[in-house]
Parts: sequence; structure tokens; C-alpha cells
Amino acid sequence: MLSKVIYGIALALPLLFLFRRHNTPPADAPATQPTIQSEKPQEKRATIMQPPRDDLQPPKDGPFTLEQLQQYDGSDPSKPIYVSIKGDVFDVTRKADVYGPGKSYNIFAGKDGSKGLGMSSLKVEDAVPDWSGLPDNEKKVLDDWHSFFSKRYNVVGRVVDLPDIVAR
Ligand code: HEM
Repeated sequence: MLSKVIYGIALALPLLFLFRRHNTPPADAPATQPTIQSEKPQEKRATIMQPPRDDLQPPKDGPFTLEQLQQYDGSDPSKPIYVSIKGDVFDVTRKADVYGPGKSYNIFAGKDGSKGLGMSSLKVEDAVPDWSGLPDNEKKVLDDWHSFFSKRYNVVGRVVDLPDIVAR
């Protein structure tokens, strides 16, 4: 009996640690789980979310269609990995450890999965561009992710065939 409890705690602790770390990101990172977001966003905390960078290139505005974007989902190791958010295409190749094939956030690679980002969802059916139906709080989460990526990844282009309702 005691050994089962110890086993349970040993299993639960690392999960709890990861969960809390993800939800205590840098002040500019989105609240993936808004309900347990810290009430003191400015407070300095330890985090495993990467910090902003100061070596970003000026944004490029080369056109991408959603179909062209699919080539950059990490399945071809000779190509970069791109993630589009609200039509801005970010080069996330240096984080292939999370966006590469079989990795946690590969779901967002080679596409515009803005809706899923706003919803904090990792379901493939949610990783689609049309975020227009999201409630305001999820639109805010989406904008926070856009801002998070803007401070960490180079913009390499712009998606030109988003659904009309979200195109700008
Ligand atoms: C309990 C659930 C979750 C855990 C334990 C978790 C864990 C993590 C960890 C450890 C990182 C940092 C990765 C790194 O920089 O190497 C991260 C980043 C991230 N997480 Fe989560 N996560 C969870 C849920 C989610 C969900 C539901 C979403 C859906 C939107 C999400 C989206 C992201 C994104 C986009 C990043 C940023 C990666 C980057 O730096 O580009 N996470 N997460």
C-alpha cells in the first residue's frame, strides 16, 4: 500500500513540475491555462520558456500559400520549419526539438493553426487558420502567442490565402 502511494507521488511530481513551469512563463508569454495564470505577471520567476531574443532579422513579407507552407512541417530535414500565426510566418527551425516530426508542437508546423493556439488546444482539427469565432479571452491568448513568437522568431513571410474573414 505504502509503496503504491510513493510510486504515485513519484509519477505525479514531474508532471506537476512541468505543468507549473508552463504556466509560470515569462511575463510576455500567453496563459495556456488561463484559469491558473499567476496573478502577478510582472514578478520574476524561473521558467523553461525561452527568453526573448535581440538578434532577430527585419521581417520579410514573401508570399506563402497555405499549400506551400505545408512543405515546412519538419518532415523534410533539408527544409526549415515554419509556423504561421494570424498569417505571419515564423521560422522556428532552431526549436525543432518541439516543432519537429513527432514532437509536442509539430501540430502547428507547416500551417496556420491560429485557432488552436487561441484555444490552447493541441487537437489537429483545431489547428486551422480561422480564429474569427473565438471568444475574446481566447483571441487575447492568440495575440499573446503572436507577440511571444514575434520576440523570438524571424518572420519570413506572409500567408496570402487565409480565409477572407481573417485576411488583412
Ligand atoms: C500540461 C500541458 C503542457 C505542458 C506540460 C507543456 C510544456 C511545455 C514546455 C516544457 C515548454 C517549453 C518548451 C521548450 O522551450 O523547449 C512549452 C512551450 C510551449 N507550449 Fe506547452 N505545455 C503544455 C500545454 C500546452 C498547450 C495545450 C499548448 C497549446 C497551445 C501549448 C503550446 C506551447 C507553445 C506554442 C510553446 C512555445 C514553444 C516555443 O518556445 O516556441 N502547450 N510547453
